[in-house]
Amino acid sequence: MSYVFVTRRVPGRAVELLREAGHGVDVWDGEMPPGSDILRERLLEADAALTLVTDPVGPDLLAAAPRLRVVANMAVGYDNIDADAAAAAGVWATNTPGVLHETTADLAFALLLAAARNVVLGDRDTRDGGWRTWSPTAFLGHDPFGATLGIVGLGEIGRAVARRARGFGMTVLAATRTPRPGVERELGVEGVSLTELLERSDFVTLHVPYGPETEHLMGPAEFAAMKETAILVNTARGGVVDQDALVEALRTGAIGGAALDVTVPEPLPLDHPLYEFPNVVITPHIGSGSHATRARMAEMAAENIIAVLAGEEPPNPVNRPPNPRSA
Ligand code: DGY
Repeated sequence: MSYVFVTRRVPGRAVELLREAGHGVDVWDGEMPPGSDILRERLLEADAALTLVTDPVGPDLLAAAPRLRVVANMAVGYDNIDADAAAAAGVWATNTPGVLHETTADLAFALLLAAARNVVLGDRDTRDGGWRTWSPTAFLGHDPFGATLGIVGLGEIGRAVARRARGFGMTVLAATRTPRPGVERELGVEGVSLTELLERSDFVTLHVPYGPETEHLMGPAEFAAMKETAILVNTARGGVVDQDALVEALRTGAIGGAALDVTVPEPLPLDHPLYEFPNVVITPHIGSGSHATRARMAEMAAENIIAVLAGEEPPNPVNRPPNPRSA
């Protein structure tokens, strides 16, 4: 019997699917991630791991997991896994594309609206007893309707955000690494350079994967190029933004605000300066967090494991081991 380590309790039928396929399953029961010692201990015997974005899988761990054949990440992003090192070790790495873009786009829009219209500040003030009368001047925000939205990265999530923006009558700009005129035309989006996007947008939303090419994509020069009223939305990865530069841009009023679902580190320590700004909204990395989407993500990860343990290629590989390990 193969043995699968699942690094946290997951929603949906993922564990059932693994058991129905005849695998032994050990689910880490803690509220917090297992931690490197426990991961190492469990992967010593494991044939497969169902991991989350909170589980770093690097060369050392892979070297200590002699039976491991697949690391199935329950996420579309897989920057927590060294996919090349896994391939070199004969281990498949997989992700969950195609199932979380609408849910993540919903959160990007929720953050955009919350920051633009002071939803969080208004809620906090109401709870604190601040609502004494209707005020013609309190909590005034900026209209998303009719504004210009800049989408950085036009993958699945960026495209889903663009579709929502049309319903808000927004002018939509997109900056992509590779020009995608067909996609832009279909979505009614204007393809521009990153600099032009930053200069023209009232809202800038990030939808690029995190890696060496996108690390600190938003730095001092980029914040300086933005409008003083513009709001940055980040549901991608914290590392795409130079957070010190963001703090400085907020401090000097170079931008109007930020709405962040991802930070560095996660969780963001409570004494971090980003919490000091009333025009910053922070959520705890919940972009894909709907019941249905998280269940589907976990089930997809399970399906990837089931395929590899049956000696097949996984449906959603992010690497290609030249010599995949076998049973
Ligand atoms: C992903 O899928 O990459 C998300 O960040 C996890 O929700």
